[in-house]
Amino acid sequence: MVGVSVAFWLCLLAVAPLVSASEVVTCSGIVPMKNRADVVSIVEFGGVGDGRTLNTVAFRKAIERIEKIKSRGGTQLYIPSGVWLTGCFNLTSHMTLFLAKDAVIRATQDTGSWPLIDPLPSYGRGRELPGGRYMSFIHGDGLQDVIITGENGTIDGQGGVWWDMWRQRTLQFTRPNLIELMHSTDIIISNVVFRDSPFWNIHPVYCSNVVIRNVTVLAPHDSPNTDGIDPDSSVNVCIEDSFIATGDDMVAVKSGWDEYGIAYGRPSYGITIRRLTGSSPFAGIAIGSEASGGVLNVFAENISLFNMGVGIHVKTNIGRGGIIKNITVRDVHMDTVRKGIKIAGDVGGHPDDKFDPTALPVVDSITVKNVVGVKVLQPGLLKGLKDLPFTRICLTGINMGNAGSGRSGSTWQCEDVTGAAYEVNPSPCTELITTHDTDFCSVRS
Ligand SMILES: *[C@@H]1O[C@H](CO)[C@@H](O)[C@H](O)[C@H]1NC(C)=O
Ligand SMILES: *[C@@H]1O[C@H](CO)[C@@H](O)[C@H](O)[C@H]1NC(C)=O
Ligand SMILES: *[C@@H]1O[C@H](CO)[C@@H](O)[C@H](O)[C@H]1NC(C)=O
Ligand SMILES: *[C@@H]1O[C@H](CO)[C@@H](O)[C@H](O)[C@H]1NC(C)=O
Ligand SMILES: *[C@@H]1O[C@H](CO)[C@@H](O)[C@H](O)[C@H]1NC(C)=O
Repeated sequence: MVGVSVAFWLCLLAVAPLVSASEVVTCSGIVPMKNRADVVSIVEFGGVGDGRTLNTVAFRKAIERIEKIKSRGGTQLYIPSGVWLTGCFNLTSHMTLFLAKDAVIRATQDTGSWPLIDPLPSYGRGRELPGGRYMSFIHGDGLQDVIITGENGTIDGQGGVWWDMWRQRTLQFTRPNLIELMHSTDIIISNVVFRDSPFWNIHPVYCSNVVIRNVTVLAPHDSPNTDGIDPDSSVNVCIEDSFIATGDDMVAVKSGWDEYGIAYGRPSYGITIRRLTGSSPFAGIAIGSEASGGVLNVFAENISLFNMGVGIHVKTNIGRGGIIKNITVRDVHMDTVRKGIKIAGDVGGHPDDKFDPTALPVVDSITVKNVVGVKVLQPGLLKGLKDLPFTRICLTGINMGNAGSGRSGSTWQCEDVTGAAYEVNPSPCTELITTHDTDFCSVRS
């Protein structure tokens, strides 16, 4: 008896690690977190955190010092609690921007002093207006090993003045992102709140190895174009454990715009999005609409959405070109949503009239599985291109049973798509149940 009992307990011990509830699936290991021995405070550079003093020179001096000293292991720039008003500034490599509890880095509302930078080559012009664009509030180009973290401090864009200019049509150039990193690698953004961005919040473009986790991104529901996180022509991006409630797409994976994006040819791939919660009048998980360099291998799971426009939105257009392929979104909960799933080839405008109308986007192998939707007005709209239908759309385990409660437009709407559907309620359109070779779509795994 004793022997059996010991064997039993040994057995339990042996399997325990395999079933441990604390084993959290994560992709954040792609960039190891590091502590930096060398620490400087913004105060040492004349910074005053009273919410009125302009600290632009202090930030620029501090970062210049970090760049010059090149301390082994990099340097942490410590921002104590307080409100640190500043103009925009550039980061440098091998630095940590650390926001203590109740530290707020607040953007000046003096929009007249905002510098302009070149348009992104993959966009050919500013995203909303021709020509250059305003530099992002916190900016970086060609960097490596940059960490922005802390104790839930805030980066506040004070975007209201910019939203008003947009509404009054007095903007001269494209509004600034809150943070943009270009051509950079080994980036961590964690434990920080982003608030009231003038335009998109977090924009990694031409980057690789980027971890964004445990962040909060907030902007009013009616604030224009305040996308949460937009990985753009970037590779190996991990977005986890975050809350995003803004005025536009929560996460939108992009890769350039029409003829400029096609010519630049930089895809986004290896994008993981996990344990994301939030709300937006537009999309929760979006691909596009600027996807001209291609968007491949995107995996999103454990997504919880409420008060949404569209839950999952793959969007592109004629003239975009590019390949959108191997996109999986699974384990999604949606509550109060206009459209559950939208995959469409007629979304978004063009940069100019030089786009190539024969540049048709390829959309192939899009899988959406395990979705529970309550109060979903329409379960889905799948609309491919007449000259290039979208292929291998796979829907499994989807229950938006009470969708629309009998109103017109409350059923699936499909056109120029092929694919398969299993265990989908309400029952999917015939385009998805008449495909013969359905190996690409299985209920399991
Ligand atoms: C920031 O870096 C950009 C290049 O990425 C440069 O054009 C600009 O002058 C820099 N701005 C400041 C304020 O240092
Ligand atoms: C998330 O960030 C908060 C502060 O913003 C911190 O207290 C918490 O430990 C962080 N969680 C993880 C898993 O890093
Ligand atoms: C961080 O601040 C945000 C915004 O105030 C808040 O919603 C969130 O709960 C805070 N996170 C932690 C871990 O305190
Ligand atoms: C599809 O994407 C996943 C990541 O989501 C990746 O692991 C897998 O290898 C990709 N499949 C193909 C055929 O490229
Ligand atoms: C997803 O969420 C479910 C339910 O909250 C949880 O049991 C599961 O562990 C989560 N999976 C991941 C990969 O986070």
